[in-house]
Amino acid sequence: MQIIDDIKQMQTLGLEARAAGQTLAFVPTMGYLHSGHLSLLEEGRRRGDRLALSIFVNPTQFGPHEDLDKYPRDFSRDEALARSAGVDWLFYPRADDIYPPDYATYVNVTGGLSEVLEGACRPGHFQGVATVVAKLFNIVQPHLALFGQKDFQQLAVIRRMTDDLNLPVRIVGMPIVREADGLAMSSRNVYLSTEHRRQSLAINQALRLATRKVAEGVTSASVVLDSARSRLQAEPDLMIDYLKVCNSTTLQDTAVIDDSALMLIAVKIGSTRLIDNHLLLQSWPGP
Ligand code: PAJ
Repeated sequence: MQIIDDIKQMQTLGLEARAAGQTLAFVPTMGYLHSGHLSLLEEGRRRGDRLALSIFVNPTQFGPHEDLDKYPRDFSRDEALARSAGVDWLFYPRADDIYPPDYATYVNVTGGLSEVLEGACRPGHFQGVATVVAKLFNIVQPHLALFGQKDFQQLAVIRRMTDDLNLPVRIVGMPIVREADGLAMSSRNVYLSTEHRRQSLAINQALRLATRKVAEGVTSASVVLDSARSRLQAEPDLMIDYLKVCNSTTLQDTAVIDDSALMLIAVKIGSTRLIDNHLLLQSWPGP
């Protein structure tokens, strides 16, 4: 595995792989790798002749009062995990190279996808995400890029951007990887105290409860939302940022449950913000 911090060098390697007829798979991350990230790498390894991973804690997607400075980092651990996942190129750029002082170009996905849910709670977040992902695509030159459905809205925004800008990258969405007790894996889970870790289980339990109601025949989104809300509100330190049932294509609120109905949850537990989601007509994976 080669560690690359130079943008030009990474771009040359990507272009050379393309010219040699090799399929290049790419997994962009902010590091502090867990099994969710590793599932993307595993699929990328399967689909690509070459596998690139980027680790870059992207400052432009964090709001002024968010956790950029304390975002968990452990490069040597990540490096070892990347190596054993079969990564060929670990791209680890410096923030000053990605955003030099005269940097002035941003990508905005409009039309409703970015403005709701995470976009409403975190103004500017998706501009930061879309901008860095567009840049990373131009630097790495992948044929396909893998993203997790854990960040469902991010995946939708990236698909829209890739289509709209005619970027020659195929976007692959991958299922949510969960801990044995159901909590969606996230780099931010390390922030949770033992008590908050226990309270965090309410998130997947609320999704599971909603899924069960729908399986029993409930078709009203508000009925399903009420039961999920009660489960979340049973935890003393859990504050709901949003709890929604949306159409999974448009991400706009939906009143009647159909095949595309997606429940999305964002909460704060203490100072830790967690998100999760589930397609309501899909059975719950695992126990
Ligand atoms: P990060 O949070 O590090 O996530 C990197 C990728 O891993 C994303 O595609 C995310 O959806 C996926 N992922 C995270 N947790 C997962 C889980 N439990 N199961 C499956 N996939 C999971 O998302 C970002 O970084 C950044 O916004 C980025 C796209 C790199 C742009 O900066």
